[in-house]
Amino acid sequence: MATNGSVLTERRTSASDYLKFLHAWIRKPRQTASIVPSSPHLGRLMASQIDPQGGRVMEFGGGMGALTREIIATGLPVDNLEVVEINESFARNLRHNFPGVSIIEAPAQQVLASSAGGAGAYQCVISGLPLLAMSKPLQQAILAEAFRLLRPGGSFIQFTYSPRPPLAEAVADALDLGVDRIGMIVRNVPPATVFRYRRAADIARD
Ligand SMILES: C[S@@+](CC[C@H](N)C(=O)[O-])C[C@H]1O[C@@H](n2cnc3c(N)ncnc32)[C@H](O)[C@@H]1O
Repeated sequence: MATNGSVLTERRTSASDYLKFLHAWIRKPRQTASIVPSSPHLGRLMASQIDPQGGRVMEFGGGMGALTREIIATGLPVDNLEVVEINESFARNLRHNFPGVSIIEAPAQQVLASSAGGAGAYQCVISGLPLLAMSKPLQQAILAEAFRLLRPGGSFIQFTYSPRPPLAEAVADALDLGVDRIGMIVRNVPPATVFRYRRAADIARD
């Protein structure tokens, strides 16, 4: 079984994980936004945007760890990964399943003060948050916090169940962000598309 430090990377989503996810969806459907965790295929496409030697990564909305597992499988040192999760029960599971990874139980829009690296220290934010289901002010608060964490050139990677970018255009414009499409994964329930947001100034320099 492959390991990275003390963290197992081969464990897959179990039947009990599916039940916990379904239970969370029943209690808070808008916050959980899916009845099943993401597939390993989707997790791998999201994680492919990370440079394992490139420094700190922040994950938003860890859930049962479907993306966390694939981020660690890239070889990123576990002490370079922090995961934010608002749901207490999910946060407890993440701490149990991913020893060595810092799990921050907080809303993603208010995570900077609890982060280990602080402002401008992160190469990438990997997000499983249900942005499409959120109001524009909440989207803007989350993206603003992500880009406070991200260093120049850093990217915000987000999956969505729509083929269109998940962030309202007005929000992307207000924060001066550009978007490109990384790819689509049909082996996920439901099929999902992955988008990358970057500062418009970084895109212009490419
Ligand atoms: C669609 S699930 C994705 C879970 C997991 N990343 C996956 O891909 O299977 C969304 C997750 O985001 C969490 N979440 C929702 N709003 C949040 C917020 N404002 N801050 C932090 N986590 C949040 C939910 O509790 C849930 O675990």
